[in-house]
Formats: sequence, structure tokens, C-alpha cells
Amino acid sequence: MALIIDTRTEPERALAIACETLGEGLPVAIPTETVYGLAADATNPDAISRIYEMKGRPRFNPLICHVADFAMAEAHVSFDPLSRKLAEAFWPGPLTLILPIKLESSVHPLASAGLDTLGLRMPEGFSRQVIARFGRPLAAPSANTSGKISPTSAAHVEADLGGKLALILDAGSAEIGLESTIIKVDGDDIRLLRPGGLDVADIEALTGKTVLRPETAGAVIEAPGMLASHYAPGAAVRLNATDVKPGEALIRFGGKPLAGEENAVVILDLSPSANLREAAANLFAFMKQADASGAKTIAFGTIPNEGLGEAILDRIERAAAPRE
Ligand code: TXA
Ligand code: MG
Repeated sequence: MALIIDTRTEPERALAIACETLGEGLPVAIPTETVYGLAADATNPDAISRIYEMKGRPRFNPLICHVADFAMAEAHVSFDPLSRKLAEAFWPGPLTLILPIKLESSVHPLASAGLDTLGLRMPEGFSRQVIARFGRPLAAPSANTSGKISPTSAAHVEADLGGKLALILDAGSAEIGLESTIIKVDGDDIRLLRPGGLDVADIEALTGKTVLRPETAGAVIEAPGMLASHYAPGAAVRLNATDVKPGEALIRFGGKPLAGEENAVVILDLSPSANLREAAANLFAFMKQADASGAKTIAFGTIPNEGLGEAILDRIERAAAPRE
């Protein structure tokens, strides 16, 4: 079983054992502000292989690498002026930038799946301290079995991967609760590869540019991990429900009751006060809770497609997609 260390009560011990474990080439579950990550030394191919193995993840899928500061970032990627502006405004935080890898970078091609670009971000919180102490970038996908819902607490990680992992760092519930927003700057264009915890409107406000959505950015799947069925709970998922059928679990938004909800196995409200940030933070934990209720179907009420609602709806639509 995994050793679990609470970073709030034992930060020094957490840092020391995490760095020792990472140094041995073993993955460690780390708390980031978005979701818990399954982190390994991005320069060590054995360590990266263990991430793919533990997750049961297809190998062609590139991983996001995490850095502690700009000096560490500059050692591995080059920034165009627009990407730098975004990084300076939003790092540390829930923004991943796709940037050209420098020839001299020690990040192993297994982390980038052989691409000449790297997905890079500087996370907020305890994970950043771990990277600073370790002194090298950490490759980290979400700490869940491939295709399953991402973990937003140490307990989620333990339930899924606890039997395979040496160490889980526990910093409580992830503050944001959705994976990072992935952006690729292409000349003068800013392309959205994955909606996430950073509101696209904040990027547009900073740059004065319209961010190109996948539909308008071209038909090619540029973020190879964006398979349709993802974040899959065991139960079926029904979208935009306006009523509840007997035996369904209900996840709604904004405190408004739905017709027939007295028949629901469980009723969860992502944010009774209709706050999208709160809804994002609750989403994955509520999906797990609804799934665990034993309901055959999870019905989702409507959620506004604005601000963080875009990323929330993206995850719910993936959960509802036909299974591979
Ligand atoms: O919030 C997050 O981003 C979390 C936490 C742990 O930091 N991490 C995360 O990592 O979601 P991961 O490895 O699951 O995300 C990988 C996705 C790939 O599936 C792909 O869509 C995109 O990031 N990606 C990574 N490198 C890329 C590249 N060079 N070009 C295009 N997309 C890339
Ligand atoms: Mg994931």
C-alpha cells in the first residue's frame, strides 16, 4: 500500500521522501491546484515508463511536464513573445503551453511522445515545492487509471492506484478541480487545445485576441490525449436532463430542482449558488459519488456554456461519449 503523507502537517518529511522516491525512478502522486498528478522524473525513461504502466495509458500520448520556475522552463523550451506573456500572467497556475523543445533539453522523448514540442506548466501549491527541491521537471498526467475520472483528493488516488504506488502526498481537495487549459501559440494565433481550469476569457482579456476553439482551429486532433471517451464513470451519463427518471443519480447546478428528482438515488448540486468555480471544484468528486451510489445512469442538469462552464461541459460530454 502507498504511504500517505499530509503535506500540511509534515511538509519537510513529505519533501524529503518525495525527492528520495522520485530519485529512485518511482512515480509519486502529488497535489496540484488542478487535479492530483502521477509525477515522475521527466529526464528518466524508466520513471516515465512506470507512469504509462501504472495508468495503463497508450504510449503515443504525450505527458505534461511541470517546472518550478522560469529558469527551469528556459532550460527545456523556447518561448515566443505571446507565450511568454501568457506564462508571466498565469504561472504558477492552471495553464499548459505547448512550446518547442530545446535541443539541449534533458527531458526524455518518452515524455513528449517523440514530438518536437513539450506541454509545460508551472503548478501552484505544494507540488511546485517538490519540483524546486527535486531540481528537475516532473512529467505528470492525472493520477488515475487511463480513461477514468481524474482525482481531486488523496483518497481518490489511493482508491484507484494505492496498490501500485509507493507514495501519495495529501494536501486536501484540489482547489480548481479541472485539468489545466492547454494553449498553443501559432504565429499570431492562440489555439485552445483543451479547455480547463483557466477561463479562456481571462486569456482573451490579457491579449486582446480571440482564442481559436478546436472547431475553428482546424480539424486535426492536436492534443493527442483528447480521445472522445474519457473521464468515464461506470454508470451511463445523460446530458441536459430536464427531469429525473426513477433510479437515476442527479447532478444539477444552480440550486434549481428538476421534475421527478424525488425519484433520484442521490441528488448533488455542483453549486447551489450557480458559481462555476465551485462547480468545477466539485465536478469529479460528485461524479465519483454518483457512480458509487449504484445508479445505472447519472443525469446532469443543464450548465451554462460560459467561462469555466466550457471546460465543465467538455468533461461531462466526454463522460457521456460512447465507450471505447
Ligand atoms: O492539470 C493538468 O494539466 C494535470 C495536472 C496533473 O498538472 N495534468 C494533465 O496531464 O492533465 P496529462 O498528461 O493528462 O495531459 C496530457 C495532455 C495530452 O493528452 C495532450 O492532450 C496534451 O496534454 N499534450 C501534452 N503534450 C503535448 C504536445 N506536445 N502537443 C500537443 N498536446 C500535448
Ligand atoms: Mg488525465
